Amino acid sequence: MEINSKEQYEKFIGYIDEYLPERAESLKNMYNAFGKRLLLAPASAIEHYHNAFPGGYLDHVLRVVDLAIKLYDFYETNGMDLSGFTKSNLVFVAINHDLGKLGYVGEGREKYIPNDSEWHRKNMGKIYTYNEKIPFAITSDLSLYTLQKFGVEVQWEEYLGIKIHDGLYEEGNKPYYISRMDSSSLRTNLQYIMHMADLMASKHEYRTWKNIKEGKVEQNPNKIVNTKDNKKEESNKTLEEFRQMFKSS
Ligand SMILES: [Fe+2]
Repeated sequence: MEINSKEQYEKFIGYIDEYLPERAESLKNMYNAFGKRLLLAPASAIEHYHNAFPGGYLDHVLRVVDLAIKLYDFYETNGMDLSGFTKSNLVFVAINHDLGKLGYVGEGREKYIPNDSEWHRKNMGKIYTYNEKIPFAITSDLSLYTLQKFGVEVQWEEYLGIKIHDGLYEEGNKPYYISRMDSSSLRTNLQYIMHMADLMASKHEYRTWKNIKEGKVEQNPNKIVNTKDNKKEESNKTLEEFRQMFKSS
């Protein structure tokens, strides 16, 4: 849960170059179109969800990619089935699974905007609020929409990996996960690994926030976690740090 940095951005781009060279150009075009939103967006709006702080999105995505790779290696080491997909397919899904959380491309079209209501921040943990100026979309739908808009080819197993990454937390995923017939079962473990990686990352992020809130872990001055005890200025200060960081580069 670290303050976003050039290192994190470089790590993100590094994953694209290493695992997805054929699609690197179109992916970079797409992420460039979001500008600094990739670096500043939170992973959620509410403090007790996960990573509801500036830079929380990229921090979360990098954690999911790391875990997905480790889970892939774990499957391999233990002789578990990895047929029907490659590590690159899995990394593609992990990198892009939450893309919809960035909102739509264009000025003022982000999904999460800082909540001006100090009461809601303090009493309900609503650090951000949903941008009412953009059309509502389920995150995975918007992720897939944005990928096609930028001409990024998505294979079927990848499409499904993004679409159902929330597992059974999303009602609409039931037909894929709860199958009555062998023929309608998921054909690969990609989707299960992706869901596990995302669940593990978000629960870790939640627990980190909770431990800081309860004083079990001291907040590192180089790390920012929004809790209801933080003042709004804290977020603004962080944003200013981001601006300075990238101004000087
Ligand atoms: Fe996620």
